[in-house]
Amino acid sequence: MGNEVSLLTPYKMGKFHLSHRIVLGPLTRSRSYGNIPQPHAIVYYSQRASNGGLLINETTGVSDTAQGYDINQMEQHPYPAQTRRSKMSLPLKVILRLTVAQQERYLKLSMTLDLLQGMPLKLFMKESANDRTDEYGGDLENRCRFPLQLVEAVVNEIGGGRVGMRLTPFMDFMDCWELDPEALGLHMVQSLNKHGVLYCHMIEPRMSMDEARRQTPHGLQNMRQAFNGTFIASGGYDRDEGNKAVAEGYVDLVSYGRLFLANLDLPKRFRLKVQLNKYDRSTFYTSDPVVGYTDYPFLEDCNESMNEH
Ligand SMILES: Cc1cc2nc3c(=O)[nH]c(=O)nc-3n(C[C@H](O)[C@H](O)[C@H](O)COP(=O)(O)O)c2cc1C
Repeated sequence: MGNEVSLLTPYKMGKFHLSHRIVLGPLTRSRSYGNIPQPHAIVYYSQRASNGGLLINETTGVSDTAQGYDINQMEQHPYPAQTRRSKMSLPLKVILRLTVAQQERYLKLSMTLDLLQGMPLKLFMKESANDRTDEYGGDLENRCRFPLQLVEAVVNEIGGGRVGMRLTPFMDFMDCWELDPEALGLHMVQSLNKHGVLYCHMIEPRMSMDEARRQTPHGLQNMRQAFNGTFIASGGYDRDEGNKAVAEGYVDLVSYGRLFLANLDLPKRFRLKVQLNKYDRSTFYTSDPVVGYTDYPFLEDCNESMNEH
């Protein structure tokens, strides 16, 4: 009793000392105008920062024709101290544009390769979306070749201890499906091991659009066991399911998307076991710099009329 690992138990992820295991998952919020991050993004991430907490930023693009953030603009708007005390992870697509000096600055933190459905790397991997006949198409090994070459290139630049990967082998919308998603996931995590990748971040197979689901059937167990680094799971977790997954050793860290989006002080709310703000789906991707973005109330600002979640 008393020794049980929970979401609030510190964790050492490679050289990063995390003070808790509640991670902000990558969330595209569509608030960069002209693909340039704005000062309100700083407010947004600062609000969600906690000392020693891991934040995974939304993605950024590798070229002018790819959507995302402009790294030069990020130089002009450096994150304030409070956010810097969190561990920020910038999902890749930007690495190819970084100068050595910029790399040193950002990669003190870490880099995530985001293989979300519909994104270019994912289109290589999934058999429904890849009809190539060269060495980048066909069997599993060929389809994973390009993403893994990219992993290797990034690892060679910054070291595996600063690289993370998000994998979604079980997600099949946007026409990206796989007959044997577990084989794909296993092949990827085994390959990531060879590169000493810091963390693997996967979405639960049963992550669904059904907001009522509060059961996690450990569908990532085999990948978790096969991966040597830090394992992060995402998809429908609430406080209790997160604590359970961590206590059972099923995951090292749990990432939260919608709950963290609407509860900028989520670790504190979990610690105090208090009510949660409800998220407003209608403002997930709208462009207003405040509404649905930085105007979710802190716990202290919540009034009594707020409904229990
Ligand atoms: C508004 C929104 C934007 C998202 N954008 C991304 C993204 O850009 N990349 C990604 O890998 N996942 C993205 N996701 C998925 C989340 O990171 C997370 O895996 C998903 O919401 C399930 O976790 P949850 O049940 O805690 O919300 C997004 C989810 C939401 C709700």
